[in-house]
Amino acid sequence: MASNDDVDMNTIPLLNCPAMLHTGRYDHPSLRLDDFQKDLDLVELERLDRCRSNHARRQFCIVRSKLRHLLAGYLDIVPEKIRFQYGNLGKPYIDSDQNHTGICFSVAHSGGWFAIAVSHGKKVGVDIELNRPGLKIHRIAEHYFAEAEKVHLEKSNDPSGDFFKIWTAKEAFLKARGSGFAFALNKFAVGFDTNGIPRLDRLDDVTDSVANWALDIPGVDSRITIAVAVKTRE
Ligand SMILES: CC(C)(COP(=O)(O)OP(=O)(O)OC[C@H]1O[C@@H](n2cnc3c(N)ncnc32)[C@H](O)[C@@H]1OP(=O)(O)O)[C@@H](O)C(=O)NCCC(=O)NCCS
Repeated sequence: MASNDDVDMNTIPLLNCPAMLHTGRYDHPSLRLDDFQKDLDLVELERLDRCRSNHARRQFCIVRSKLRHLLAGYLDIVPEKIRFQYGNLGKPYIDSDQNHTGICFSVAHSGGWFAIAVSHGKKVGVDIELNRPGLKIHRIAEHYFAEAEKVHLEKSNDPSGDFFKIWTAKEAFLKARGSGFAFALNKFAVGFDTNGIPRLDRLDDVTDSVANWALDIPGVDSRITIAVAVKTRE
């Protein structure tokens, strides 16, 4: 019988962000939904019912169960007892009554992989994308990237690699804020310092500043790009 322990998970300490990154795969054929479904609460089971495809069902159920087991270790609560609340735009949070140490987390999945970032008391966001070689990156950048990001891509020695780094860093930043794509993608720009470390270069928001944010893009596997954003100062 497959169980939560059968989903291999790697823990990756980050050099540039005060957060931990946990990654793994949810698409192994031996994993049976029943073995993970038992961890889910009623709200989650209803959502599982609404998933249209088998892939979506497996993704949600296995990753949510994995998230519960991971957070249980941080919170010292049994996985199925964790209560989630949701922000206006769907960002999940741990119920504050159970979260005495202020654990923040973010979840992302793509093509069989998942990533979960966890921080202590700091807003965190994670994104993961499969590195798709055939993607029309310049066309996508033209529509969604800030001017400085487009210039960076034009000059880059590795436009495809840099495209996925910028894209995932932008989405990780939006997910940390909980705004999703409701905050326009061209209102902020991701850049890199001389050592190639990603950073927020511009943020058009009078209530926030680039100095409040740290970004990290650890090399995890050549098939994927993962970025983490942490708000280091409120
Ligand atoms: C959040 C969002 C960026 C996710 O992007 P995605 O590429 O489809 O999916 P990802 O795999 O990266 O992330 C999905 C996870 O993000 C989390 N999530 C959902 N809404 C979120 C939000 N508003 N902020 C941060 N995280 C969110 C959930 O944990 C979700 O996984 P789960 O439901 O299985 O637990 C996108 O769906 C979004 O923008 N949602 C907000 C709604 C919105 O703004 N709509 C547009 C209005 S203009």
